[in-house]
Amino acid sequence: QVDRAIRPQSLAEYIGQPVVKEQMDIFIQAARQRGEPLDHSLIFGPPGLGKTTLANIIANEMGAEIKTTSGPVLERAGDLAALLTNLNEGDVLFIDEIHRLSPAIEEVLYPAMEDYQLDIMIGEGPAARSIKIELPPFTLVGATTRAGLLTSPLRDRFGIVQRLEFYDVESLTTIVARSASKMGMELDQSGSFEVARRSRGTPRIANRLLRRVRDVAQVGGDTLVGQKVAQRALDMLSVDSQGFDHLDRRMLLTMIEKFDGRPVGLDSVAAAVGEDKDTIEDVIEPFLIQQGFVIRTPRGRQVTKRAYEHFNYQLPSDFK
Ligand code: ADE
Repeated sequence: QVDRAIRPQSLAEYIGQPVVKEQMDIFIQAARQRGEPLDHSLIFGPPGLGKTTLANIIANEMGAEIKTTSGPVLERAGDLAALLTNLNEGDVLFIDEIHRLSPAIEEVLYPAMEDYQLDIMIGEGPAARSIKIELPPFTLVGATTRAGLLTSPLRDRFGIVQRLEFYDVESLTTIVARSASKMGMELDQSGSFEVARRSRGTPRIANRLLRRVRDVAQVGGDTLVGQKVAQRALDMLSVDSQGFDHLDRRMLLTMIEKFDGRPVGLDSVAAAVGEDKDTIEDVIEPFLIQQGFVIRTPRGRQVTKRAYEHFNYQLPSDFK
């Protein structure tokens, strides 16, 4: 319930992502002026940056209802047909993890997106017939961690494509201060900054850490929370000074200790770290790359000098 209460409801309340905000504000205003639904929109980016939040804001700003589902949940064409035929004009259909739709369901989606038409087969064998149903004009909002995971016919059918970036510390500080105030927590600027600085550029992580800081403060009897209490809580949670968690450190240390800082393929890193490839590619590695601790080379992933410095390790003499 707390999560819902602290999510922004409008673009004006949405902090950070200035490029996305500016563009979406214009596209939404234009569609509203024309009395049309917004074009189908694809939002991609690492987990926790606000893809679902943005989908909900789009519906709010368009004065429309939102129906939410996700790629893996839609098993049969009929599941999607049921959702589509339940939409009202202008509604938003939000499909999270849209890269996980089955090919059969994608086929149903294409004419629905392009012509607001549902083409489905009913019956089997000689009695099988295809029927066409007119759908109300609607907006499909799809979310995925990487745009490259979508098939190109699906990607090509989105008129608007937005990429969410990691948040800078300043935006995250504002988000944390806002969440704290909505949670009735007294957190000063240095406390907000400390949580923000160690949140991997990710509002979902910032809000999660904030709740744990609140726990530590409450049990310790601290009513006004500053940097000290925040630091104590974050140290206890094993979030380090860079905001790295144990998975980040495990990946970096594996690349340093087991591979001596040489370029290494995704499969080898995944096996050595003991995580699946998708988790490494979607969750762990994007932030390490953005922060300059890992680079991608034609020969694989490689840790940088900064990673060695972070752990106070000596660079190998043959480090390139
Ligand atoms: N809470 C989580 N993400 C947010 C954002 N981008 N703006 C405001 N509040 C948020």
